Amino acid sequence: MENLLLQQITALTNKSNPLISNLANAAAVLANYENINWCGFYLVEGETLYLGPFQGEPACTVIPKGKGVCGKAFEEKKSVIVKNVKKFKGHIACSTMSRSEIVVPIISGGEVKAVIDIDAPVINRFDDKDREILEEIAGFLAKLFIEGNVKDNHKDDEKNKPEAAIEKLREDYDL
Ligand code: SME
Repeated sequence: MENLLLQQITALTNKSNPLISNLANAAAVLANYENINWCGFYLVEGETLYLGPFQGEPACTVIPKGKGVCGKAFEEKKSVIVKNVKKFKGHIACSTMSRSEIVVPIISGGEVKAVIDIDAPVINRFDDKDREILEEIAGFLAKLFIEGNVKDNHKDDEKNKPEAAIEKLREDYDL
């Protein structure tokens, strides 16, 4: 399956980058998803999800496991598609614009490390095709959640230079 967003995220992320930097660029790429009003990450810390890099309006910062759509995906370790957020019991409304939502867990070593959350301003925006695309992206991002992947480990290698990644994107997509 052609997954252009995954290709872009692959070009812009690197295991020797700080995790937050990788996720910040991944969130910027996910913002290219059509017809959405919010996209980003919630990161697992114990039994809680904390707001990570995102694009969109300010959002709630803490979501306990099992609460809302994000907490459900965290608890059940599986993707959740909500066709109409008003019909989802316990939905946490961060933006009044949101009408439908998809949340996909990022799982590494059998543990949920984070979730990808995307909100849309229309009902029934997301289907199985979106789930497949985002699960593929989550599978790739899971590999970036490695121990020691913190800013102190930043290596100034050639691949790691943003200019090189941006140049590669320009070439690949004729930008
Ligand atoms: N709606 C989410 C909360 C996060 S915001 O959509 C950004 C939920 O119910 O978990």
